[in-house]
Amino acid sequence: MNPTIELMNARTSTRVYDAAPLRAEEKQAILHATMRAPTAGNLMLYSIIEIEDQALKDRLAVTCDDQPFIAKAPWVLLFVADVRKWLDLFAYSRVGELAGVEHRDRLGAGDMLLACSDALIAAQNAVIAAESLGIGSCYIGDILENGEEHARLLDLPPGTLPIAMLCFGHAKVSRTPASRQEKYVVMRDRYHRLTPGELRDVSETLEREHAPHGLKPGVANYPQVVYERKFVSGFMREMNRSAQWWIDRWCEAAV
Ligand SMILES: Cc1cc2nc3c(=O)[nH]c(=O)nc-3n(C[C@H](O)[C@H](O)[C@H](O)COP(=O)(O)O)c2cc1C
Repeated sequence: MNPTIELMNARTSTRVYDAAPLRAEEKQAILHATMRAPTAGNLMLYSIIEIEDQALKDRLAVTCDDQPFIAKAPWVLLFVADVRKWLDLFAYSRVGELAGVEHRDRLGAGDMLLACSDALIAAQNAVIAAESLGIGSCYIGDILENGEEHARLLDLPPGTLPIAMLCFGHAKVSRTPASRQEKYVVMRDRYHRLTPGELRDVSETLEREHAPHGLKPGVANYPQVVYERKFVSGFMREMNRSAQWWIDRWCEAAV
């Protein structure tokens, strides 16, 4: 193996941080590496908001499904899928004067998915760059919740969408990497839907790895745990509601 792959194999999410702030050179190196990420059409369809205001961090720790460690993270970056800056540039550049093109009056799902891809790929560059400097990180997917409040708190205009937040800091405790079930992830040539036998294997492997001491009464297997904890949870209901709000707002944004 090489040091990059070793680093990636050893990475875990970091949620407990040393209080020490990150140095300016560390932040700059991470941001620079972040922006070297591949980006659709080299358009950089994202913006990064550094969350420095402690009162804002405190509020986000609540609105992102009550995760107090957000408030204690020495550095927090919000990755925003962003077509707004291009729309503003187009308007400034009088694209309406162009003849012989079919003009658009709305953003679409394609614009949104490309911008989200750009933002997330950049975010993962930040994770790996930070890791290489000994700085841990954790994604906060719950930034997708409470869309109305987050749009207001962060001044996010139509044509933007906060797709991920990242907390950074030196790890206070080290963790062993979480297990991954590789067997049924990589497919060949076409999608393979798991057979009943393979589904039993996945279920039993998950249970061995995540619930070695058994399950609580009334729960028959580990997928039932995941279903209850994640799929039908209150936070997932709110995330789906709020994500739909973001999608509708995006697709209604005038070009
Ligand atoms: C899109 C996304 C959203 C996530 N959201 C959260 C979150 O809100 N809170 C949290 O503690 N961890 C969050 N995580 C971290 C995952 O829980 C973590 O990656 C997973 O448990 C695997 O652990 P590992 O990163 O240590 O390998 C998120 C990860 C991703 C990729």
